[in-house]
Amino acid sequence: MGDTKRADFYDGPAHDYLRYWDGRDYENAAERIALDRLLRGQHFAHAVDVGGGYGRLSTQLYRYADRVTLAEPSTRQLDIAARVNPALETVQAQAADLPFTDGSVDLVTMIRVMHHLPDPRPELAEIARVLDPIGLAILEVANLGHFRNRLRHPRTPAGPVDIRSPENRHDDEIPFVNHNVRTVRAQLAEVGLSVERTLSVSNFRSATLKKLVPQRMLLRLERAAQPTLAPILFGPSIFLLLRKH
Ligand SMILES: C[S@@+](CC[C@H](N)C(=O)[O-])C[C@H]1O[C@@H](n2cnc3c(N)ncnc32)[C@H](O)[C@@H]1O
Repeated sequence: MGDTKRADFYDGPAHDYLRYWDGRDYENAAERIALDRLLRGQHFAHAVDVGGGYGRLSTQLYRYADRVTLAEPSTRQLDIAARVNPALETVQAQAADLPFTDGSVDLVTMIRVMHHLPDPRPELAEIARVLDPIGLAILEVANLGHFRNRLRHPRTPAGPVDIRSPENRHDDEIPFVNHNVRTVRAQLAEVGLSVERTLSVSNFRSATLKKLVPQRMLLRLERAAQPTLAPILFGPSIFLLLRKH
């Protein structure tokens, strides 16, 4: 599958990524809490948000970096970024081919992109290449072995699992996979990245809970759960803080 298809999905009129976030305030806030938790007290010269879409989370990186670049393949997402986040520096780029020299970026984030990468090794190697030897990266992984999945399937497969509906399961559609976090950790080790911290994120992502529990309370629980539930990889989204070996 070519990378163009990945960009096409976010370029086409059928998918409105800005509107996707309507009704997902809890997940959006949960991810922001995770970013702040992993970056608190740090300062960087240049942060790059790989596959950053329209810059939903890129702007949060200004709290921690002098310069922030959104690196994104989709023209449509870049156009939206220019409208909603006009101050953001942008570059059109695929994660496997980043226009930065070796070791020149001291913070890289890649959030909600791994679910489009059944074999993420080229992209992970590219992140390792551009990362400064003392820099940090944050990688979000769509977690195949999250708690509710494990109740249904106690054994988590090692490989990525296609989560598309049967009608979308063909080569013209963008891949949507969940990953085994243990496999991703091994892939990271292969490219020279080690995991310093793990957070379990969006732990209470459930339409029922979101309806029944006031959001402030859900976020208070989320804040406590992110580090506590990380060792058992509870949540649907796992945030990894990475450093070069
Ligand atoms: C679900 S959106 C996430 C956007 C943003 N990171 C966020 O969390 O709001 C996935 C993004 O990944 C981008 N993408 C897909 N395949 C990519 C690739 N191979 N390299 C870089 N970005 C990619 C898409 O264009 C899209 O903007």
